[in-house]
Amino acid sequence: MDPTKIRSDFPLYESENSDVIYLDNACQTLRPKQVIDSMNEYYYKFPACGGRSIHRLATQVTIKIDEAREKIASFMGCEPSNLIFTKNCTESLNIVAKGYPFRKGSSVLTTDMEHNSNHVPWITSKINHKYVKTPESGIFDFDEYLKNLNKDVSIVSMVHTNNVTGTTIPAKEIIEAAHDNGSLVMLDGAQSTPHRKIDLKKLDVDMFAFSLHKMLGPSGVGVLYAKDEILEKMNPLTGGGGSVGTTDYNSVTLLPPPEKFESGLLNYSGIIGSGAAIDYLSRIGMDEIEDHEKNLNNIITSRLKDNDSIQILNPVESSLRSGIFSFNISGIDSHDIAMICDEISSIAIRSGMHCAHPFFTSRGINGCARASLYVYNTKEECIKFADTIEYIIKTFSA
Ligand SMILES: Cc1ncc(COP(=O)(O)O)c(C=O)c1O
Repeated sequence: MDPTKIRSDFPLYESENSDVIYLDNACQTLRPKQVIDSMNEYYYKFPACGGRSIHRLATQVTIKIDEAREKIASFMGCEPSNLIFTKNCTESLNIVAKGYPFRKGSSVLTTDMEHNSNHVPWITSKINHKYVKTPESGIFDFDEYLKNLNKDVSIVSMVHTNNVTGTTIPAKEIIEAAHDNGSLVMLDGAQSTPHRKIDLKKLDVDMFAFSLHKMLGPSGVGVLYAKDEILEKMNPLTGGGGSVGTTDYNSVTLLPPPEKFESGLLNYSGIIGSGAAIDYLSRIGMDEIEDHEKNLNNIITSRLKDNDSIQILNPVESSLRSGIFSFNISGIDSHDIAMICDEISSIAIRSGMHCAHPFFTSRGINGCARASLYVYNTKEECIKFADTIEYIIKTFSA
């Protein structure tokens, strides 16, 4: 793949901010013209609601929403009726934590390095919460997982690719062991879906959550996948128009999934734009994207890993961290690193605790800086990033 050619599709690079080196992709990616155009088409040509009115504009919206759902389903290897549109990955995870009828007194088993989106919903849920401890190496400890996987675990809910370390858990093996134990599995796919091929049927995962704004799609669109029997049993987080067949003064008949979970008017332009994002990623190819990010991460890591003033969050081996490079510099706060990168080189990175407070506080680390890569990033940008970090170390490090 050729990132230079890809960049011509991204309006940022023709704007007054064209010099920005955008390395905050794990938060949100940029959007190509194709996505923006498809959203604008909705507002210009058929700005109506879907699934309710029968006039021609509404019919066009319904068709476009169905098409987007079909595109995402085919991209993820599942049926469209198993996909619920939400506003983000966080909402998707909450629907399960709050809406599934878990056995009283049972537990959820997560890792000890979850994003708050797969941590807070469980802290505030009705079931107990257990963690699999991650060793110093940063690599998932399968034996520790098996030790924790006993009969009281009704669900294993884990981050597929970690937003701080970039490591990916062995999902297939985790799912097989959980199913043998009679436990369900949900994966937080916020950082895996944008970066590698996911096949939900092959994985045999029970529930899977992700956000489209981390994969070239519009802000505020998420997806929850769940198997049929789970969608049947699970209660929606919200109720109202669009999710019901009939109601009387005392009762309600819910529509079958996915409508049961999609009450109120949806983010139509966002969902249509999400379909365009899926088209765009499919044209590039997910294997190409994965290779591209690993190559770029290797450029950054090789340049910086032997510098005594830099601490890369484990694992140091770049091929285990996909497109994520998280680090600290001795004597400099991570927010200062991010601010200096922005000031002197127009490099946009993320700093702080990355919504993973327990990970940092349990290890006594006061946050970190994080560069995260995507399809439009180039080798030259990675070299400039490494140059900038070396300059910061030389100039400001203790
Ligand atoms: C691993 C992980 N899970 C969940 C989320 C939450 O995603 P959203 O804010 O789109 O709901 C993020 C966001 O960065 C993430 O990195």
